[in-house]
Amino acid sequence: MKRLAILGSTGSIGQSTLSIVEQFPERYSVATLAAGRNLDEAFAQCVRWRPKVVSMATDELALGLWARLREDHISGIEVVHGSAGTVAVATHSEADFVVSAIVGVAGLEATHAAILAGKPVGLANKECMVAAGEILTAAAREHNVPILPIDSEHNAVHQCLRVGEHREVKAIWLTASGGPFRQTPIEQFAAITPEQALKHPTWVMGRRITIDSATMLNKGLEVIEACRLFDVGPEKVRVTVHPQSTVHSMVEYVDGSILAQISVTDMRLPILYALAFPERPASNLTFDLSKLRHLDFEEPDLKRFPCLRLAFEAAAKGGAHCIALNAADEVAVEAFLERKTSFMGIPRTIEAVLAATPESHPATIAEVLRADEDARETARRLLAR
Ligand SMILES: NC(=O)c1ccc[n+]([C@@H]2O[C@H](COP(=O)([O-])OP(=O)(O)OC[C@H]3O[C@@H](n4cnc5c(N)ncnc54)[C@H](OP(=O)(O)O)[C@@H]3O)[C@@H](O)[C@H]2O)c1
Repeated sequence: MKRLAILGSTGSIGQSTLSIVEQFPERYSVATLAAGRNLDEAFAQCVRWRPKVVSMATDELALGLWARLREDHISGIEVVHGSAGTVAVATHSEADFVVSAIVGVAGLEATHAAILAGKPVGLANKECMVAAGEILTAAAREHNVPILPIDSEHNAVHQCLRVGEHREVKAIWLTASGGPFRQTPIEQFAAITPEQALKHPTWVMGRRITIDSATMLNKGLEVIEACRLFDVGPEKVRVTVHPQSTVHSMVEYVDGSILAQISVTDMRLPILYALAFPERPASNLTFDLSKLRHLDFEEPDLKRFPCLRLAFEAAAKGGAHCIALNAADEVAVEAFLERKTSFMGIPRTIEAVLAATPESHPATIAEVLRADEDARETARRLLAR
C-alpha cells in the first residue's frame, strides 16, 4: 500500500489523483492533503479521505476548515496552513509518495522538502522545475529520490527513454496541441478574450495552464522542464505541433528510430504511471486505435507564439532567466484574466521582464524565491504603466 501526500488536492491534477486512489484502493491510500483556497472541496476531501494532516493557503482558511470539521464532529485531522503547512504535508512520516500538483512556485518549498525527506515525487508542478530544476534534481540525486513526471509530455518521454541509453538520445520531441488559436490569423490576436483563451481544444485543466497553452508558454516551460528532468541542453529539445494530442511526445535516437507514446488524453494515465512505476497496473484507460484516422505534425509558428521563442532563450541562459520567465508569465496571465492586459500583453510583459533580468544562478530555494519575487515586482510595475 502506497500512502500519498497530495499537494494541490483540490485542483484538476489533485482530483484526478484522488480518482486513481478511488479506483485502486488496494494499492493507494491518502495520508495527507494540501489545498489552497477551496474550503468546500477541502472539507469534502477531509470527510471522504480522513487525512492525517490537511493544509490550507492561509491561517484564516485553516481556521474555517477546523471549525467545520469540529461542527461535524470529525476529529483526528490536523489542520495547518501556508508554506510551512505544505511542507508538513509533504514530509509527514506516514506519506510514502508525494504528488506535487500545486500551481506555481507556491509548491516549490514543499516539493524540495519532500525530496530532502527522501520521498519519491510525482511531479505535475512544472513551474517548480523551471524555477529551481537544478536545485531539485541535484537534491534528488544526492538523496537517491526518483522524480517521476506527471506532465503528459514528460511522462511520455520517460516511457520512451526506458528502452535506450542517455548517450543514444538525439532529440526529445515534445508535442503541442497548438491550443485554441493554432489557426487564428495574427491580426486577430490582440482582440482575444479570456473566455476564448480558456477554451482548450483537447484538455480540461486549471486556468493558468490553459492560458499558457493558448500562448504556447506552457510548451516553453515544458522545454525547460525536459532539460532539467532528462539532463539535456535546449538544443536537444524540439517542439512539434500535433493537433490531435494523440502522440504525447517522442524520443529520437541516434540510429534514426523515433519512439512515440500514444494513449487517451486523460491525465489519470500519467498519474497512474508515476504512482505505480516501475509497474504497469491494468486499467480501463484504453485508447481505441480503430478510431485513429491521421496524425499531423507541423512546425510551431514563433511569430504568432513569441512565448515559445522567449522560453528557448531563457532555457539557453538558465538560472534567473528561467525564474523570471515563469514569474512574469504568472503575473501577466493573472492580469489578462482580469482584463488588465491584452493577450499579446503576456509575451510583451515577459520579454520586458527578461530584458531587465541580470544573469545569475540562484543556488538555494530562498534565492530562487527572491529572484521570483523581483521578477514579479518588475512585471507588476510594467503592467501598471
Ligand atoms: N491539469 C492538467 O492537466 C495538468 C497537466 C500537466 C501539468 N499540470 C501542472 O500541474 C499543476 C497543477 O495544475 P492544475 O491544472 O491541477 O491546476 P489547478 O486546477 O488550478 O489546481 C491548482 C492547485 O493548487 C492549489 N494552490 C494554489 N495556490 C496555492 C497555495 N498558495 N498554497 C497551496 N495550494 C495552492 C489549488 O488550491 P485551491 O483550488 O484550493 O485554491 C489547487 O489545489 C500546475 O503546475 C500545472 O502546470 C497540470
